[in-house]
Amino acid sequence: MIVTKSSKTILRALAGETLETPPVWMMRQAGRYLPEYMATRGQAGDFLSLCYNPDLATEVTLQPIRRYGFDAAILFADILLVPQALGADLWFVTGEGPRLSTITTMDEFNKLSPADDIHETLSPIYQTVHNLSSALPSETTLIGFAGAPWTVATYMIAGRGTPDQGPAHKLMQENTEVFDALIDRITKATILYLAEQIKAGAEVVKIFDSWAGSLSAEAFDRYCIAPHIEIVTALKAQFPDVQIIGFPRGADQKYIDYVDQVDVACVAVDTAVSSDWAAEKLQPKVCVQGNLDQTLLVPGGEKLISETKRVVEAFKNGPHIFNLGHGITPDASPDHVSQMLEAIRG
Ligand code: CP3
Repeated sequence: MIVTKSSKTILRALAGETLETPPVWMMRQAGRYLPEYMATRGQAGDFLSLCYNPDLATEVTLQPIRRYGFDAAILFADILLVPQALGADLWFVTGEGPRLSTITTMDEFNKLSPADDIHETLSPIYQTVHNLSSALPSETTLIGFAGAPWTVATYMIAGRGTPDQGPAHKLMQENTEVFDALIDRITKATILYLAEQIKAGAEVVKIFDSWAGSLSAEAFDRYCIAPHIEIVTALKAQFPDVQIIGFPRGADQKYIDYVDQVDVACVAVDTAVSSDWAAEKLQPKVCVQGNLDQTLLVPGGEKLISETKRVVEAFKNGPHIFNLGHGITPDASPDHVSQMLEAIRG
């Protein structure tokens, strides 16, 4: 038997290997802090047109790889394309964020498309993944992604981002039937969407549950853990080799329940938990991705460098993928990203 060890550092970390230098990529690495991203977005016209243009979406995915040599590329798309593919109206208001048609009644829910109708809308995204799988350098891992059902539902119910996810909590309490039907529809669509990304060449998929932190302990089990289990189980049955990263952002102590119950290769952690806590409680069980405070990339300098080194040090005894606690912000400096990489790679 020939055992080939992948040359891709991200895949090695996901397989449980402790590497001397952790592989690194950043959430939102293709984004507004990069002048070349702004230029390509301008060429596309707007953000959504960029997402649905496979040539330009491939280009912006590759930009941070060319500039910095990150170990992973993440598909350029958005978690809100799935609601759109299910029939919701979606648009972005400049300087404010996403807007969607809302779902708060069974009548509104019943107007959504069946889960298996999503592919026509999303086929340009599969094309982008396909392009990337041949365009990337051989050492770079391709990560696909989707939003988790709870997080996607918070936008579909409120029709926009909300600081406390109030409208989604209200529907959960007052009309559980509609809420559960919506979670189930998104779960089914997400499985189909991620399966197509994997078929098109995604080697890893990440599930973003950006608003998991506002769920009560009981709701966390039912609306974060349970749908994640359903998605992971379905994908692994079809693609035994796929590696999955879960990101129940803000889960705090419940990160432990998450890794105990959801069969992910890696858990991404935000900055509300300390690196030392995550190394002690999570890293013996799974690879950990994280968790530099992304706000340090705005001022840069000594604090950025010392904090980067502290994160590397905290996770050095187990499988680790270096990343931020959340996405890089538009006001971060591209030079400070280089400072961070220099501190990691030496
Ligand atoms: O580089 C990458 O990380 C890949 C692409 C990516 C985007 N969005 C591009 C994007 C990914 C993985 C996402 C995920 C996403 N989208 C999440 C989960 C991760 C998280 O940030 O918590 C969420 C909640 C969304 C929904 C969304 N998309 C919002 C709320 C906004 C507006 C806020 C903002 O940052 O502007 C977006 C827009 C968005 N998605 C941009 C990008 C590059 C900025 C759009 C622009 O260019 O104007």
